[in-house]
Amino acid sequence: MNILLLGNGGREHAFAWKLCQSPLCSKLYIAPGNAGTAACGENVALSPEDFPALAAFALQNQIELVVVGPEAPLVEGVFDYFSATPELRSIPVIGPSKEGAKLEGSKAYAKAFMQEFGIPTAAYREFTAAQLDEGLAYLAALPPPYVLKADGLAAGKGVLICASLEEAQEELRAMLGGKFGSASATVVIEQFLSGIEFSVFVLTDGKNWRLLPEAKDYKRIGEGDTGLNTGGMGAISPVPFADDALMEKVRRRIIEPTIRGIQSRGFSYHGFIFFGLIRVEGEPYVIEYNCRMGDPETEVVFPRIQSDLLELLLAVPSGKLAEADLKIDPRTAATIFLVSGGYPEAYEKGKPVTGLEAVEHSITFHAGTNLKDEQIVTNGGRVLALTSFGDDIPDALVRSLKNAEKIHFEGKYYRRDIGFDLV
Ligand code: AMP
Ligand code: GLY
Repeated sequence: MNILLLGNGGREHAFAWKLCQSPLCSKLYIAPGNAGTAACGENVALSPEDFPALAAFALQNQIELVVVGPEAPLVEGVFDYFSATPELRSIPVIGPSKEGAKLEGSKAYAKAFMQEFGIPTAAYREFTAAQLDEGLAYLAALPPPYVLKADGLAAGKGVLICASLEEAQEELRAMLGGKFGSASATVVIEQFLSGIEFSVFVLTDGKNWRLLPEAKDYKRIGEGDTGLNTGGMGAISPVPFADDALMEKVRRRIIEPTIRGIQSRGFSYHGFIFFGLIRVEGEPYVIEYNCRMGDPETEVVFPRIQSDLLELLLAVPSGKLAEADLKIDPRTAATIFLVSGGYPEAYEKGKPVTGLEAVEHSITFHAGTNLKDEQIVTNGGRVLALTSFGDDIPDALVRSLKNAEKIHFEGKYYRRDIGFDLV
């Protein structure tokens, strides 16, 4: 069958790598893809948010399945666009409806959903510009640190943790004053939770759901989890502290009530739910929902899936998710990101990448890469992810680190301590 995959990051290379291994996949197109996805299928120069262009392409190329990597097209309603257009209706889209994607696209929506369905999360209130004074007073009554979240999508920058009340109040004024444009027209202020974070993923048809391997990502630029937040500098799976007892609580208190909430609200959800969780004194709480897979988590989660991912995805629209095959590799996977010098602040692009052919015993996932005159060049902050298997975290990590040394581009930087807090 012909498949259209939307996106261009490391996550999408991991999707493409896994999908093209399926005997059911005859042709894979990636819109727009990167230098890595080009080895798994054909890149097409289309924006994931240009729905009419995607629709025309899907019809011309007999696409039978659309798989959505990033959140933006989901929040914009790509699922609804396909299901509302008669000639596209028969093409299943893996991803939630626009209403379902609000679980990620609106923090206030997600918090109200969790409250309604009794899902453990930090206490919160939401404020608009008209309620600035109430917001300032709410902050003054909270203990530090302060958590402020822009309601809408803000390119991963919309969450601020402020150490002092003065800073938090100043930020609230700035956010409600338009710091993140319309994304911060509403601001969620919530209780700070102190604990250890981890990521849990399910694939659901809105009724049945299947648990995928859990992961932990490392968001800070510096070793020892220091410095600025990034899109993610590496990840590991499985997570040693996500034992049976904790995962049973996650199922009962978080996953099952979320699925019940989706049914109760009555919206369509045919895709992934990424639960960003935190363990506080042994109990799991939801920090955020995402309506897609994580990046770099996908780069460790999908290599651990031994069964056919395409068969699993097709079981969503066909209503066979409950009985679909899902085999998980028990070994540990670790991935480390090689990033451009300067990232997550300003960095240069277009640097030639060499040494890729020397990589051994790791999978190279491309993220910010491009092909220019037959040469792979950097095209983003996060350039390449190196995923390796091992008996434990250090064993897997050492393989990725050996390969990280063999790849060269000007300004290359990576963390050597992914998983450091878990061993
Ligand atoms: P989010 O974009 O919602 O994932 O938030 C980004 C990061 O901010 C999370 O990964 C957490 O590290 C942190 N964070 C968000 N909410 C809270 C909270 N209530 N308490 C502590 N840390 C938080
Ligand atoms: N790694 C976090 C995310 O994908 O949002």
